[in-house]
Amino acid sequence: YYLGIDLGTSAVKCIIVDGQGHVIADASEAYPLHQPFPGWAEQQPEDWWNGSATAIRKLLEKADISGQDIKGIGLSGQMHGSVFLDADRKPVRPALLWCDQRTAAECEWIERTIGAERLGQLTGNRALTGFTAPKAVWLKRHEPEHFGRTRHLLLPKDYIRLQLTGDFGMDMADASGTLLLDVANRRWSGEVAGKLGIPAEWLPPLYESNDIAGYVTEEAAHATGLAAGTPVVAGGGDQACGAVGVGVVKSGIASVALGTSGVVFVHDDDYAADAEYRLHSFCHGVPGKWHRMGVMLAAGGSFQWWRNHFAFEELQRAEQEGREIYELLTELAETAPLGSEGLLFLPYLTGERTPHPDPKARGAFIGLNLRHGKAHLTRAVLEGITFGLRDSFELMKASSVQISELRVNGGGARSRFWRQMIADIFGLPVITVNSTDGPAFGAAVMAASGVTKRDIPSLCEEWIRVVDRVEPNPHDQRRYEAHYDVYRSLYPTLKDTLH
Ligand code: XUL
Repeated sequence: YYLGIDLGTSAVKCIIVDGQGHVIADASEAYPLHQPFPGWAEQQPEDWWNGSATAIRKLLEKADISGQDIKGIGLSGQMHGSVFLDADRKPVRPALLWCDQRTAAECEWIERTIGAERLGQLTGNRALTGFTAPKAVWLKRHEPEHFGRTRHLLLPKDYIRLQLTGDFGMDMADASGTLLLDVANRRWSGEVAGKLGIPAEWLPPLYESNDIAGYVTEEAAHATGLAAGTPVVAGGGDQACGAVGVGVVKSGIASVALGTSGVVFVHDDDYAADAEYRLHSFCHGVPGKWHRMGVMLAAGGSFQWWRNHFAFEELQRAEQEGREIYELLTELAETAPLGSEGLLFLPYLTGERTPHPDPKARGAFIGLNLRHGKAHLTRAVLEGITFGLRDSFELMKASSVQISELRVNGGGARSRFWRQMIADIFGLPVITVNSTDGPAFGAAVMAASGVTKRDIPSLCEEWIRVVDRVEPNPHDQRRYEAHYDVYRSLYPTLKDTLH
């Protein structure tokens, strides 16, 4: 058996997969997210570890297997978060997360100091508020005492690695989101770290995702029920792991991940970057390969916001009927006509990253009239999210090999109505695969690859099967196209008004 751990933003999810790729059991454990000021998002690394240890214990019990039966462990996790550790390996402060928006001034300073073009050449990316290096610069400027005590900089899941194995390490896929990696050459960029005043000694050794990067210690075995000596592979960020988990491991295949964030992801055999670095160019979790992605900050997050504040009746009905609230809401959306009778929704509820790197961007409903009711607004939310994802896809189409299919994962992918909408708005078949555990499953694939020495694409070939395929409807595709044109024009028009 293999263990996949995905350290998410709201909870850690752990799964056990057998040698044929079947998921035997899962368990998760939630932890709090702290937002002390608007735009800030923090978590305690200790909460991650306590949650992970508890979830692993519960999982082994549920699966009724002993720690000895686990042959390898893979780690996936929320990307970009900054874990600052002191000389005793203790966090100097809570971690700043991927969705934290406080570093706009630091990003501007970074692009001024290094030059946006040079930064792009060195790292494949722009300075974006979510990324890790701007967080370290923020710490230096705003909490110099904490900066002075820091000796190690890790990403969230690498803190779990440290607790499990006692070793520092990071995979190149997740390291790509720090803005400190020379992505094209798969090594740390001494030039970027030096120019930003981030000590190179803070950065851990780098690995490919399926490299074994340590072994479970006695202490961790005691805390989790795992066996001491079990190999732990490097793993990857949740996007790279999620892509591996649905088989996006060769060119021509892209994926759409509908979690809190929404991500359009494409595999690249060779390093590629678009001219203005609007897409992220990262190392993939497949050794020696790359990927590009566009990240929308509030995809499922926008839908969740709508549910939390405006779906009171549906929430009551869901409880009475024992049904899923999102199922009721997508059913409601389906009763409104395509295009929501001219109502458009901008999903920039927490600022945006791709294609508008703008932490101050705001959401909006535009085009309301008396005919619009709750069904229209609900549909407009789903259409707005999908149009926003199409924006990233447009950037990919301009600079990619032909993309022939989209694979979807994440909570939003459960709705057939939304999958059809994606197929129509992207103009591509949308495929669902048997593995619905996304990142945790991808981490388990990486573990199996590291332990058995089989390559990741061939394991994916064997373990992942297509279970559903939705074809685009050419008539609806054309109708959406007209609405998408209007959607695209809105951000540039409104950006200064809504800031
Ligand atoms: C990717 C990103 C998010 C987080 C969510 O760049 O910021 O998808 O990884 O966990």
